[in-house]
Parts: sequence; structure tokens; C-alpha cells
Amino acid sequence: MIKKGIILAGGKGTRMSPLTKAVNKQLLPIYDKPIIFYPLSILMLAKIKDILIIVNKGELSQYKKILPNGKNLGIKITYLEQESPKGLPDAFKIGEKFIGSENVAMILGDNFFYGQSLSSILKKCTKLKSGAKIILHEVFNPKLFGVAKIDKNKKITKIAEKPKKFISKFAITGLYFFDNLVVKYAKQLKPSKRGELEIIDLINKYKKRKKLSAEFIGRGGAWLDTGSLEDYYKSSIFVQSVENRQGLKIACLEEIAFHNGWIGKKELLSQIKFYGNCEYSNYLKRLF
Ligand code: TTP
Repeated sequence: MIKKGIILAGGKGTRMSPLTKAVNKQLLPIYDKPIIFYPLSILMLAKIKDILIIVNKGELSQYKKILPNGKNLGIKITYLEQESPKGLPDAFKIGEKFIGSENVAMILGDNFFYGQSLSSILKKCTKLKSGAKIILHEVFNPKLFGVAKIDKNKKITKIAEKPKKFISKFAITGLYFFDNLVVKYAKQLKPSKRGELEIIDLINKYKKRKKLSAEFIGRGGAWLDTGSLEDYYKSSIFVQSVENRQGLKIACLEEIAFHNGWIGKKELLSQIKFYGNCEYSNYLKRLF
């Protein structure tokens, strides 16, 4: 069972400047909560309680204001800083001590997942014993993403970063599951032409050794990378429509923790006090 997870929540946020000049992207809202709640909720749905959040140097105090240590969510949150955005695999170098001798999940701080089958997919993924698992989702414009070509048995035959020529409609989403070798492999990587360590190179190390597998988010599910303004606003509208129609919240951390049996009424009350008189608190009041 994978019990540890990393949220990579630094980055330059260039595409969303000037919004991201004073505030880190992951602290901006998607509808009624900060972006970081969404990837954190995914790790919690995967029953991962030991979580490392990697933030940009100098931005730690901002994050601690909203997610101090995880105690009231029944989880453990550790923070580490990234010197500069050196690329996604840098997370495994920064997190080496946190990972220790275990396997680990990683989710990008700006990735949004939603869908009925999600919990069962996550359950499968956390069973990973060796190798790596990536999550694929069909997209309309694969040129913009890292993609994976698969054969009829759903085996990955090729992966490529933002391919100019069509090779597959399956984008590699920002949720990954790795065995402990990931630390060693991340250390072996060299920066690409754009000066970053590339996640595709890391995944390729597993693929070459025939240790790469995939799960799929089907058409009933949604994946949005909220890093562009367009997708960012689309995500907000999506959350607003679903929540207002169902009266249920997406990524309400306390609700997930409560349902997982990690917290009780006492912690819910303390969170209600922490958030103050707001709609989110009113929702929490309805949980018990
Ligand atoms: P990106 O969307 O690739 O980069 P970004 O967030 O800096 O945005 P932009 O491209 O507009 O400049 O990053 C994906 C996620 O990973 C995002 O949540 C930020 C995070 N990230 C880090 O924390 N450290 C890094 O070194 C990189 C490259 C990304």
C-alpha cells in the first residue's frame, strides 16, 4: 500500500501572471476553495495520510495559514521548499528523506480530478508494489500535453512530450505512483533543453524496464490542468455547477476526513471556528 504522497505546489505560474505575482497559483480559488484543496483531496481519497507539500522558497508562511499541519484533518502535513522550479522530478530529490524506503504518490498542485470512478481507480493505484503507474485521460488537443500511446491491451507502447505529430489522444495527467526507485532515477536525470528535469524522462526510465502501467479516467470523469487562465476559469464554473446542483461539495477536506473516520465532531467544530462564518463552515455544520 502506498501511504505517502507529495503535492508539488511551487512553480512560476507564468501563464497566469499577473494573478500569480503576489500569490502562489495553488492558493488562488477554484470557485469556493483554494486550488491546493483539490489535489490534497485526491490524496486523501486515496487514503494517504502522510503528505509532503513542496512550495516555492519564501512562500511557506502563506500555505501554513490555510493548511498548518493537517492535525484537524487527521493527516500529517510536512512542508519543504524548492529552491527554484527545476522541474517535476526535483520533487523526489527534495523529498528523499520523506520518502525513505517506501513507495510514493505525487500529484501536481494545480491538477483537478473529478468523477465517479475516481475512488476505485485510486484504490488500484495505491496497491502498486513495484514500477510506476500513470493516469491517462482522453483530450481533444493532445499536442499540448505529455501523451501515452497504448495498444489494444491498454499497454503503453510509447510516451512523448507535447508531440507535434499525432501519436495518441491520451494525456498523461499530473498524478503519478512510483516505487522507491524513483529517488534514484530522479537523481540520474539531466536537465532538458528548457533547463528543467522532465517527468517524461523519469517515466521513460520505468517504461524502458517494462515497469510502466496506466489507469484511465473514462469519459465520465474530468481532469483539468488549471495552469492556464482558460482552464482555471473552466474549473471554477465546473465546480460551481456541480456543487450548486447537488448541494455536495467537491474537495471538502473535512468531509473526506470525517468519512474516512480520521476525525470526529471535535475537529469539525474546530475547523468551523477556524474558517469563521462562511458558506464552507455552514456546509461542515451539516456533516454531523
Ligand atoms: P507547470 O504548470 O509546468 O508550471 P507553473 O505552475 O510554474 O506554470 P507556468 O507554466 O504558467 O509558469 O507546473 C505544474 C505544477 O507543478 C504546478 O502546480 C507547479 C508545480 N511545479 C513545481 O512546484 N515545481 C517545479 O519545478 C515545476 C516545474 C512545477
